[in-house]
Amino acid sequence: MVAKLGIAVGGLGAVSSTLMAGLALARRRGLPLIGSALLDLHASRLGGGPPSVSMLPKIEWLAWDIRRRTAADALREERVLEPSDLRLVRGEMDRVSALPGFASPRFTGDLRREQLIHEGRYGGVVDQLREDLRDFRKRSGSTDNVFLWLGSCELAGPAPGLGMKLDRLLATPVTDDCVPPSVLYAIAALLEGFAVCDCTPSTLFDARAVRALILASGIPAAGKDLRTGQTYLKTVLAPGLRMRSLGLHGWYSHNILGNSDGRVLADPRAREGKIESKGSVLESILDRDEKPWLYGKHDHRVTIEYYPLRGDSKEAWEVVDFFGWCGYPMQLRMQMNCRDSILAAPLVLDCALGLALARRAGRKGMQDWLSFYFKSRLAGEAPRLGAFEEFEQLLRTASTLLSRQGRGLMTGEPRGGASRTRVRRRAGPASLGDRHPRRRA
Ligand SMILES: NC(=O)c1ccc[n+]([C@@H]2O[C@H](COP(=O)([O-])OP(=O)(O)OC[C@H]3O[C@@H](n4cnc5c(N)ncnc54)[C@H](O)[C@@H]3O)[C@@H](O)[C@H]2O)c1
Repeated sequence: MVAKLGIAVGGLGAVSSTLMAGLALARRRGLPLIGSALLDLHASRLGGGPPSVSMLPKIEWLAWDIRRRTAADALREERVLEPSDLRLVRGEMDRVSALPGFASPRFTGDLRREQLIHEGRYGGVVDQLREDLRDFRKRSGSTDNVFLWLGSCELAGPAPGLGMKLDRLLATPVTDDCVPPSVLYAIAALLEGFAVCDCTPSTLFDARAVRALILASGIPAAGKDLRTGQTYLKTVLAPGLRMRSLGLHGWYSHNILGNSDGRVLADPRAREGKIESKGSVLESILDRDEKPWLYGKHDHRVTIEYYPLRGDSKEAWEVVDFFGWCGYPMQLRMQMNCRDSILAAPLVLDCALGLALARRAGRKGMQDWLSFYFKSRLAGEAPRLGAFEEFEQLLRTASTLLSRQGRGLMTGEPRGGASRTRVRRRAGPASLGDRHPRRRA
């Protein structure tokens, strides 16, 4: 049986369109898939050589966005690919067209809204998203399914809906504006049997309803907030200081972003979640309580600046004030220019493949072994390990999962991969939502 991986993305922006286009380009140009640790490991197991698209199952895409755009529009507007590359895949990318998404005045901020799901209650929104997923699975014939949240950073602030049980949440009027949209996408995905990955600093996994669904269904999940460039290097360097018992007075990180993500992060309410997840990584590696004489007083600062001229080429500056023998101070300075979406795309691919493989192997719930890819360890907890230990953990589990695979990943029948989750429905208004016909603006 030919495996088909159905990937649903919430947010058809720079990262998701770069992933789609990268795979199309690799197919057309015969390029190796660079930046994917999982595929690299698989290629090594098969005897070496570069990872290639021939190892992948056929991938089908569904996208939601609150902007009326195709993947080709996103690529053109976000200016990630060179025009010559874009020309080559434009036809294919034009065919990935976003379905209307759900936005909230409180959590989505003032982003452009061109196509929206309008429902009276959150249950109606979830029903609509579920219908989209069911249509997608039927149309694509996908055997394995994953949902990736890749929408813009949601605004921080009180969200009483996070504490609600599923039934109550679904019965709540949308006008209460108490549930971040990412949570609704995740609920719909879990109810339709899609594994869930949060690539952003959202509060999706803090939602009681989402956690309960993961617990009850055992569907694999991973997150949160991709660890792509600066934060990744931080988790590579910090263990280096710790291994040599060097102390830290302070670590100052400045980010200059010029893409749409940067524009969103110019709003302090959106920046709050990002700075929190970026800031959390050092605390766990350079533990203040464990070694107060080395790390007890360190001052860790993260700033983010929007500078449109940079586009998707992000700039990051690091100043690390560390100390050694006799407490003598030293300084490490680093400057990095990297392409945000180019770094992120293969990580997203690994997460989607990792979750699909985990599902096939019958692994349940939060997939700790994928923490290597995220700033926050699973449900909002900071990583307790540095990049090296987390990579070892990734290799261990990935090797086991890949050992069951032939050259092409995910061939053969999935073990319960495509099934939907059974959720008890209650009669009356507190059921899974208003059964309104499709109403969209
Ligand atoms: N690029 C990286 O290296 C990186 C690293 C870590 C995390 N992330 C996160 O990944 C996410 C995507 O990044 P990007 O660069 O593609 O951003 P982007 O701004 O290019 O794309 C985000 C897309 O989400 C859409 N969107 C916003 N709210 C939505 C909603 N409620 N429903 C449906 N669509 C919605 C926007 O219209 C936009 O098209 C961001 O949250 C970003 O912080 C990116």
